[in-house]
Amino acid sequence: MSYRAFFALTREPFSSDLALHEILQTPELIAVKERFDYTLRIGAMALITGDIGSGKSTALRYAIGQLHPSEYATFYLTASSGSILELYRQILSELGLHSAGTSRATLTKLIKREIQELVLGKKMKVALVIDEASLLRLDVFQELHTLTQFEGDSKPYLPILLAGQSLLIDKLSYRSSQPLASRIVARSHLEGVNHQDMEQYLRHHLSIAGVKKNLFDQAAITAIHQGSGGLFRRANHLARGALIAAAKEQSMTVTAEHVRLASTEIF
Ligand SMILES: Nc1ncnc2c1ncn2[C@@H]1O[C@H](COP(=O)(O)OP(=O)(O)O)[C@@H](O)[C@H]1O
Ligand SMILES: [Mg+2]
Repeated sequence: MSYRAFFALTREPFSSDLALHEILQTPELIAVKERFDYTLRIGAMALITGDIGSGKSTALRYAIGQLHPSEYATFYLTASSGSILELYRQILSELGLHSAGTSRATLTKLIKREIQELVLGKKMKVALVIDEASLLRLDVFQELHTLTQFEGDSKPYLPILLAGQSLLIDKLSYRSSQPLASRIVARSHLEGVNHQDMEQYLRHHLSIAGVKKNLFDQAAITAIHQGSGGLFRRANHLARGALIAAAKEQSMTVTAEHVRLASTEIF
């Protein structure tokens, strides 16, 4: 019998493909959304930092998901460590445009013209979200602010939201990143959650998978909390692995020993 059948789970538990309404509205997530909205209102820049698996991308998805699509055009991309040209091409393709152009000037002109058309022509509000921005190179940070300059920098048409690991802060602290960094008006930092919030998180994911009762005993919750450092992605792996280990022993309760067994399988 599969572990899902054993626990009567209606779907793979602790998954990453959550529907918008399945996202747990933690206080941290709401705080990200508030800063996100504020930054959009004034057309500036925001930073969202945090360790891998702390919930940054999910919080962004939530914040974007709350915007009305007839009012907002949001462009979400995952950064790479490539050149500024590559980033411009990524942005262009998100905008639905393509260019064979190879100069920065040509590409920025195209991007800015399209943004202007969205804002002035279609009366939309625009936002550019760059996830994994800690991967961007310093020369990219040095250049990126030029995209946000409209009419001699007097029109805040293009708010930018950058998310990434804490290294992002270091990269923005360089003198060469100053023109970009000076636009930042809001910051969120996501950390591992506390024990109580982890318990709530585990319950939430179980209930999404159709199980209303808590399968984890207190020691198991503590083990997941400690083993994950309160970080959601790692907690997902530990929790799922522990369920599998418990099912193998035909145990309806997941214990700390099951979590320990699961921890030997993950990094
Ligand atoms: N608010 C939330 N509600 C439910 N699950 C969440 C939430 N935040 C994160 N998760 C879970 O944790 C995983 C990792 O989160 P993610 O947003 O990808 O982290 P990051 O982008 O910081 O690396 C997600 O795939 C999801 O399963
Ligand atoms: Mg992410």
